[in-house]
Formats: sequence, C-alpha cells, structure tokens
Amino acid sequence: MAVLEIVDLIKNYGQVPAVRGVSLRVEDGELLCILGPSGCGKSTSLRVVGGFEQADGGDVRLDGRSIILLPPNRRPTAMVFQKYTLWPHMRVFDNVAFGLRLRHLDKALIERKVGEALELVGLPQARRRYPNQLSGGEQQRIALARALVLEPGVLLLDEPLSNLDARLREEIKRIQRRVGITSIFVTHDQEEALSVADRIAVMDQGRLAQVDTPEAVYDRPRTLFVADFIGRMNLLPATYLHAQNALRVGTALLPGPAAAPWPDGAALTVAIRPEDLHRVTLPGPTAFSGHVDVVMDLGHYRQIGLHVPPVTTLTMIVGKDDHPASGDAMSVAPVRYLIYAGQTSPPTQAVDTLATEASPPEEVRLDARGHATEALSERPARG
Ligand SMILES: Nc1ncnc2c1ncn2[C@@H]1O[C@H](COP(=O)(O)OP(=O)(O)OP(=O)(O)O)[C@@H](O)[C@H]1O
Ligand SMILES: [Mg+2]
Repeated sequence: MAVLEIVDLIKNYGQVPAVRGVSLRVEDGELLCILGPSGCGKSTSLRVVGGFEQADGGDVRLDGRSIILLPPNRRPTAMVFQKYTLWPHMRVFDNVAFGLRLRHLDKALIERKVGEALELVGLPQARRRYPNQLSGGEQQRIALARALVLEPGVLLLDEPLSNLDARLREEIKRIQRRVGITSIFVTHDQEEALSVADRIAVMDQGRLAQVDTPEAVYDRPRTLFVADFIGRMNLLPATYLHAQNALRVGTALLPGPAAAPWPDGAALTVAIRPEDLHRVTLPGPTAFSGHVDVVMDLGHYRQIGLHVPPVTTLTMIVGKDDHPASGDAMSVAPVRYLIYAGQTSPPTQAVDTLATEASPPEEVRLDARGHATEALSERPARG
C-alpha cells in the first residue's frame, strides 16, 4: 500500500511563488500526471515530494504518515529527473546497482535485481555500456531502471518521456502497471498525459486548475485555461440574450442551457471541440458559414481551418473521404458546446482568477435541427 497525499504545499524561491497551495491525493497504484505549461511549478512540486527541495508550507504524507522532514534517501520515493542524470563514468550495470550497494545488499541479489530491472525497461544488452554509448531515450530508460530497482513506494517521474517516442509511452505505462507502483508523472505534453494517466492534475501558475480523469478533463474542462490548454478548442466570444435564452456568437445564435445563470448582455465564451462541429447543407441559425482556409491532412482525418468573418477561424475535422479545397464555401454547426462566464483575449491571460474562482461551464447539446436536446448544468458547490 502506498497512498501519497500532498497537503496545501507552498514553495517560494525568494519573491517568486513557485507552488501556491497544492493539495493532491494519489491512490495506491495510480499513475497521476501533473500537466501544465512551462514554469507552472510541476518540477518544484515533484522535487518537494522527493525531498530535493524544502517546502515553505504544507505536508507530504505516505499512508497517513508525514515524510516531509526526511532526507531524500530516507523517503520511500524514487525520482527520475527531467534531465537524465546517469553517472557518465559508470557502466549501465553500476549505475543501476548504485543504490542497492549503498544498502549493502549481497552481490548475488544485486546481480539478480539489476538484471530484472534492465529486463523490465527492455535493455538487458546494455549492461556493460557507458551512458555516452546510449541514445537519449535509452539513457532515460536506464534512469527509470535505476529508480525501479530500489522498489520505492512512490515513483516520481519528471518529463521522463521527453526523449522517448510515442510507442515507448505505452511501454512505460505497462511497466508502471506491472510493478503496480504509485506514480506521479510530470509533463507539459497534453497528449502524453491524456494517453498514459489514470488522472490528470492540470497546474497553472503554482495552483491546480483541475484534477480529473483524462476523459473528464477533455470533455468538461473546468476553466477557460484548461479548455484552452487541453486539446484543440474553438473559443468564441459570445453575448447572452436573456429574452431568447440564446447566445449571440458573430452571426450565429446558439441556444442557452436550461437554467442559464447569466444576466442579459453578459460577456461569455463558447468553447467548441473541432469534432463537435459538423458540416450542414442548409445553414440554420446555429450555423457558421465561411470559406475553407487551410486543409491539413493528418493521416486518418483532415483538419480544416474555416474562415468565418467576422468572428474567427474555426478548426474542425472531416473524414478521409471528404475533400474540401481551400476557398470552398462551407457551413458548419455545433452539436455540443460549453459556455464559460467571462471573456479574455487571449484566454490564457485571465488564468489567475479563472483557475480558482470561476464557476464550472454550462453544457449544451443540439440535435440535427439545432435544438437543445439536453442542457446539463453543473452548479458550483457553494453554501
Ligand atoms: N532554483 C530556483 N530558483 C529560483 N526560481 C526557481 C528555481 N527553480 C524554479 N524556479 C522558478 O519557479 C517556477 C516553477 O518552476 P518549475 O521548475 O517548477 O516549473 P515547471 O513547471 O517544471 O516548468 P518546465 O515545464 O519548464 O520544466 C518558475 O517560475 C521558475 O523560474
Ligand atoms: Mg520542469
């Protein structure tokens, strides 16, 4: 059993607040990804958990016991750093064996454990090589073996895949599953997080913006920041029309949710995923009409930039059999969208308040005729 709790963690570098009150619980055997833009405090959080930085406030607990005063080598954690840190003068075998020798294990046992760890990361043949005789990805896998061989309660991985290709992501997930180890995995790559994580903690400017399953983070980003950061999203400024319970978005008029919480004239943002925009032949009031700007062939589908004056360029996707050309007239209508209170331009700038104070978005789904089919609304759980 290894349940990790991070409780109201605070870390400042002089005047720079790097981590501003982060609380997280990682379940036994869970792979949690911390995802966020450069400089948001991911590595700092991880280093505090590993004991490589001292916190200015808060606690780190393993199975309910505080470990925050323990030095790194006495913590039940093992860390793979952002920049791989193998000892260049040691062969692979000795790099991996290092921590076991410090623990005075006997030679035969070290031999067996190192062999197993190298097997696990798929590099048993590299044991006699030096780090500079390995590729970046191979070095990263050896760094992973070196952490795993210690059989830590918690594995901390700081961007371990930045040197690995997509196929190796699956491998790391398989290894993590097989070993069943509680893990925190830091990345700024949202695709990586969506593909490997059990849950994602989206971090922004030292705070958590959302902690959820990959599906929930993608389907219902809690804030505009998350909506903008995770996956492709069309973010359109909108005005709320109370009398019609509708949103004016450029020339389109979109139905509002069943219980709209905004006053007439409220400035809102409508968020539409590219896959939720469908081509229509008879454009109704919910349609956006424009001209195809760019077509990008992405293998199994095509991504289209549709220029819609005066609003914006919409990103949408069409199947492989659809061959729109640049300049073609096209109309599209959303089948699902989220509505956020407030407008920001660009949306990522208003993060600070949005991350902590914003109400969750309202969701609207439309049928083929552009009528709202269901209007789920999630109210803030306040008093
Ligand atoms: N040793 C340090 N001294 C002073 N400031 C630091 C130090 N380490 C990090 N910072 C600052 O703290 C903030 C968080 O840094 P951190 O390394 O945790 O970011 P990150 O999310 O890991 O970013 P990246 O994706 O680029 O690795 C940044 O503003 C950074 O400049
Ligand atoms: Mg970092």
